[in-house]
Amino acid sequence: RARASEVLTAGAAIIGQTVTVGGWVRSARKQSGLAFIDVSDGSTMAKLQFVVKEGIADADSIAAVAKVGTGACVRGTGKVVATRDGKSVELECTSLSVMGDIPDPSKYPVAKARLSMEALREHQHLRPRTNALAAVTRVRNACAFATHRFFQERGFLAPSPRTEDGSIDYSKDFFGNPAGLTVSGQLQVESFACSMSDVYTFGPTFRAENSHTSRHLSEFWMIEPEIAFAGLEEDMSLAEDYLKYCTAYVLEHCAADIEFFDQRVEKGLRDRLQNVVNEDFVRLSYTDAIEILCRPEVLKKAKFSIKPSWGMDMRSEHERYLTDVMFKKPVIVNNYPKDIKAFYMRANDDGRTVQAMDVLVPRIGELMGGSVREERLDVLEKRMEEMDVPKDNMQWYLDLRRFGTVPHAGFGLGFERLVMYVTGMENIRDVIPFPRYPGHADV
Ligand code: 4AD
Ligand code: MG
Repeated sequence: RARASEVLTAGAAIIGQTVTVGGWVRSARKQSGLAFIDVSDGSTMAKLQFVVKEGIADADSIAAVAKVGTGACVRGTGKVVATRDGKSVELECTSLSVMGDIPDPSKYPVAKARLSMEALREHQHLRPRTNALAAVTRVRNACAFATHRFFQERGFLAPSPRTEDGSIDYSKDFFGNPAGLTVSGQLQVESFACSMSDVYTFGPTFRAENSHTSRHLSEFWMIEPEIAFAGLEEDMSLAEDYLKYCTAYVLEHCAADIEFFDQRVEKGLRDRLQNVVNEDFVRLSYTDAIEILCRPEVLKKAKFSIKPSWGMDMRSEHERYLTDVMFKKPVIVNNYPKDIKAFYMRANDDGRTVQAMDVLVPRIGELMGGSVREERLDVLEKRMEEMDVPKDNMQWYLDLRRFGTVPHAGFGLGFERLVMYVTGMENIRDVIPFPRYPGHADV
């Protein structure tokens, strides 16, 4: 059995060969003794046309055409021939079998050519039969592969540690006990960075935040690299290189899908992605960002509902002004006030900021967040006391500073936000197969 993508990519090179392809019918045109059936098996955006012709196909196959309709599962065997315009190939079937028909086509939920994304969410199990969700799935797959390739090519190891600390009681029914679910693998993966230098995690993470937005999920996937002998510059460069690598990979390997999104979802997507690859990201300190946002002409133009001021956690309206209005490209904001950031972020000498960085991108906002980690035992302990972080369960974390401490840094990237970013999809619930969000987290 060949996949449609293999047949269509090989094209003229395999004309005359006999292949078998299975898939689901997208559309069918029938005349007496002749049928044209467009089949998709998900391997590519393009459909492979099956031609079922009296005289070439056997009698059973001709009879089977009666059961062919949108959504039916079919398998055809035949010769690869050139299409009439000579630009592509089609399958001239000697045999066609209908593995699964749809007796009442009016009941097939995703038959309608263009269901809205909201309507499709009601049919999560059938969504991948549509062009949009199949394309999302291929791009998501490409991003996962590009992620591993990027880090593996640079010699990173993926130790996949389990995490307990900072996790939430989410399930009360794990062997009869509550079980914590991973919120982030960072603290645990730091122990590997402090032994094996460069590492990363790639796995599901859970947040019980009651956020009903198009950018939050209760379960999302996160990639968290952690690098040793590194500071803020290295961390920011790694983040920029990684995003550029994934974007370039998708442009090269998912060209037809990007074309689809460019036409149907976000006009100009391909150019935007090309710019991500070609242009340097903006790097801006938090202090400079606030200074820019407070300029009279900016305040006048932006009409923020909350006026920015030094020390506040920037609102998305502020972040969006920087990325969507001012720079129109990714902006790495760094050196945030210590009071709005985590206890483990490395303190700067100014006494009021830490070496944190967030990668903000147009349309989405925060795509990555990270920092240099406080590697000085005394400074870390003092900070934990100031912030009331209990030390009892954290001795192992302090040990990493007690025994052979090392400057190190890392960040977390929300994988679904990356998929949104490279496809132009507007709702995070449409870039993960079975989304979990408040009210929909129980299955
Ligand atoms: O900013 P966050 O919470 O950072 C951490 O968890 C750090 N421990 C990461 C590290 O330094 N290793 O999350 C990182 C990223 C965010 O920038 C965002 O892209 C994504 O994870 N994210 C979410 N994505 C979808 N739904 C949510 N509820 C998300 N919360 C965070
Ligand atoms: Mg963050």
